[in-house]
Amino acid sequence: MKRPIIAGNWKMNNNKAETKELISKIAPLVKDAKCEVVVCVPFTSIETARKAARGTNIQLGAQNVHWAEKGAFTGEISANMLAELKVKYVIVGHSERRQYFGETDETVNLRAKAALNAGMKVIICVGETLEERESGKTAEVVIRQTEKALKDITKQELKRVVIAYEPVWAIGTGKTATAQDADGTIKIIRKVIRKLYGRASGQSIRVQYGGSMNAGNAAELMAMPQIDGGLIGGASLKPEDFAKIVNCAS
Ligand code: PGA
Repeated sequence: MKRPIIAGNWKMNNNKAETKELISKIAPLVKDAKCEVVVCVPFTSIETARKAARGTNIQLGAQNVHWAEKGAFTGEISANMLAELKVKYVIVGHSERRQYFGETDETVNLRAKAALNAGMKVIICVGETLEERESGKTAEVVIRQTEKALKDITKQELKRVVIAYEPVWAIGTGKTATAQDADGTIKIIRKVIRKLYGRASGQSIRVQYGGSMNAGNAAELMAMPQIDGGLIGGASLKPEDFAKIVNCAS
């Protein structure tokens, strides 16, 4: 059985004091979760989050990583820097990075490989924009993004990869893909994995849904056969809501 994974993507929210407070509120609410629970916090809150999560079942994640080991890359953070802070998961290719910071399929791939090389797990985000969806390109986009993100990643490494299907138009908008729709697109993503790595990998890879997933719609989404978890933005900042989502996945 695959273990579902619920990851909070805090984005650019929560300073150190707020991080400590939020984790201390989440921890007791999710302590019996059967799924994996991850919080992806800002770089500056990692150390605080690590301490606050000590002794709990909450795992630590980051929101981005650079591919070079070190060097003249102002503003970037290397995989070894994150691994040293006991970061277990890194989000790569989030649509906000693609949209606002020039992230491309190629850099998503480089970042994913760097994180894997440093021993961490990655959550690779894929998903179509509203324009792409309306022009019937959803399948084409997620196929391309998935294939390119996984370039030169081995079958062994794939075990540490989670894919997050996040339709861009659903992120932070309160609009969710219907459960059937999300399930259908995730099926297409699995087909790509199957083609690249074989049938077993296509089935075993965990694919999350993300985009306005909340305490009210999580149960329906989690009940879909292809959906193995969620990447949660807004609702991950509210302890009760996040815990409800975690419990739906447990
Ligand atoms: P949202 O964000 O839940 O606020 O829509 C999801 C994400 O960006 O990962």
